[in-house]
Amino acid sequence: MVIRDWRHQQCLTNPPKLEPRLQKAIVAKVGDYELRRCDREDVPAVIEINVSTLPEHYSDYFYYEILAEFPETFLVAELEGRIVAYIMCRVEYGFSHLRRLGLARKGHIVSIAVVEKHRRKGIGSALVKACHDEMLTKGASECYLEVRISNVEAIGLYERLGYKTTGQLESYYKDGEAAFLMAMQIAK
Ligand code: COA
Repeated sequence: MVIRDWRHQQCLTNPPKLEPRLQKAIVAKVGDYELRRCDREDVPAVIEINVSTLPEHYSDYFYYEILAEFPETFLVAELEGRIVAYIMCRVEYGFSHLRRLGLARKGHIVSIAVVEKHRRKGIGSALVKACHDEMLTKGASECYLEVRISNVEAIGLYERLGYKTTGQLESYYKDGEAAFLMAMQIAK
């Protein structure tokens, strides 16, 4: 009885802290930006960033499908409750992009974008590196991607991280532009 009264008193003077929303697991931080796994409720914001920054768009279904299948490598960057960047990747099995005729488990960066005013702050690099870590835990030894041959910013980002151009895919995009295939070893 005495104990209950004491606890009751504690609750009134020192109420337990309740989070306004469920705390989401942060995988990395870049300054005040928090990188964390994408939630289903983040997908509309991700689509909005994709539509406003890239010419390649996907059906809504495609995002939800990748999220359901590869939640570990679908990440977002958040600042003050707003999604400002995303990366969406798969883990696949097939021919290596780095070894002749070898098979490999490989990460595939399907799409990445950072809202323009938040660029050049290291968010893109941090998203790619965080996905490399997740890909490693899924057994991937390399990671690859396709990038427009005119996309200087993205090519700069990938080269800085250690990606090398391993091929060129002519007329890869709907408008006829070619893509560079770029890949890097992620396993030590
Ligand atoms: N010009 C030249 N190099 C650039 C660059 C630019 N405008 N932006 C980034 N880079 C290179 C630099 O080497 C940079 O390092 P530094 O800033 O120390 O010089 C490196 O990439 C890493 O930059 P970072 O700040 O981590 O990247 P970011 O957060 O600005 O994101 C993109 C880079 C490509 C994701 C971003 O520009 C973007 O969203 N672009 C539009 C969408 C897109 O093209 N996605 C890629 C599709 S394949």
